[in-house]
Amino acid sequence: MFRRAIFTLSFLLFIVSTQLFCSSQQTDILQDDTDTALNYGYEYPIIDIKPSLYSTDVPVDTVIKIRFDKQLDSSTVTDSVLHLESGPLKKWLMSYYNPLTIELMVWTSVDLNSNVDWVFSISAGMEFLDGTPVEPSILTAFTTGNSNDEQQPPFSSKKYEVVEKIFMTKCVSCHFNSDKAFTGIDFSSPDKVQNTVLNVRSSEWPSLKRVLPYKPGESYLLFKIFDNDYYSGQQMPRNIDSSKSSKPLTFSEQQDISDWIAGGALF
Ligand code: HEC
Repeated sequence: MFRRAIFTLSFLLFIVSTQLFCSSQQTDILQDDTDTALNYGYEYPIIDIKPSLYSTDVPVDTVIKIRFDKQLDSSTVTDSVLHLESGPLKKWLMSYYNPLTIELMVWTSVDLNSNVDWVFSISAGMEFLDGTPVEPSILTAFTTGNSNDEQQPPFSSKKYEVVEKIFMTKCVSCHFNSDKAFTGIDFSSPDKVQNTVLNVRSSEWPSLKRVLPYKPGESYLLFKIFDNDYYSGQQMPRNIDSSKSSKPLTFSEQQDISDWIAGGALF
């Protein structure tokens, strides 16, 4: 009981202090006394967050999952803007932003302390891909229990053989021999992929690499294979005849490529 009271008090203090720095629109967060769904009292660009506000008995290896309503600029998602804290206790966080699902996953490298109250917040610095800032805010607060759900790692990194199958059946018919007409990308062997894709600047979107290992959200190749506003030219695999469409990759193929990149794009 006492511990709970302390937590509520520190949570209140935390909110009061953050609100001194944040915009006035955010003053409604505490007016949610329903203890259930996210209700910030203003339009915060989040569709869903887990663990939800005030959840209890959360596994110590929980993965915080935040689904935004528009693409984040993944290069602005750094340890310095994500905070998971309990009083003076601060956790070292890892994150994976997946542009396919517009979801940010955040987890700790070691399990959280059990039976502790946590506050998860973001500070200024994060941006959406359209250049607008993500307002600093507390996004959720929850209490851990004792259980460990084996939730980590939060994604299964894919072996190169898995994505090689996709490249060889859906992409290499155009992208081989480093042909300049097809941007110089060559999917015909692991070596070629290493030389023409990994860490190579995109010709269509020069601020991005074609594939930046560990960072699906900063890999132009990923934006090129699903329907979104952030690529030029055509969605891949395209048709040679640009007036004709061709079958897009399936969601699971797109997800395999994202997971391969998130795992470090290894061979
Ligand atoms: C029918 C031919 C064709 C197929 C098949 C094809 N591409 Fe392309 N690709 C192109 C052409 C032409 C361009 C440049 C013009 C454009 O973007 O539409 C291109 C551009 C790209 C780019 C942008 C390169 C840069 O540096 O900006 C990427 C990434 C890419 N393709 C990846 C793929 C992947 C991955 C596949 C398979 C899923 C694929 N392509 C299948 C013809 C093809």
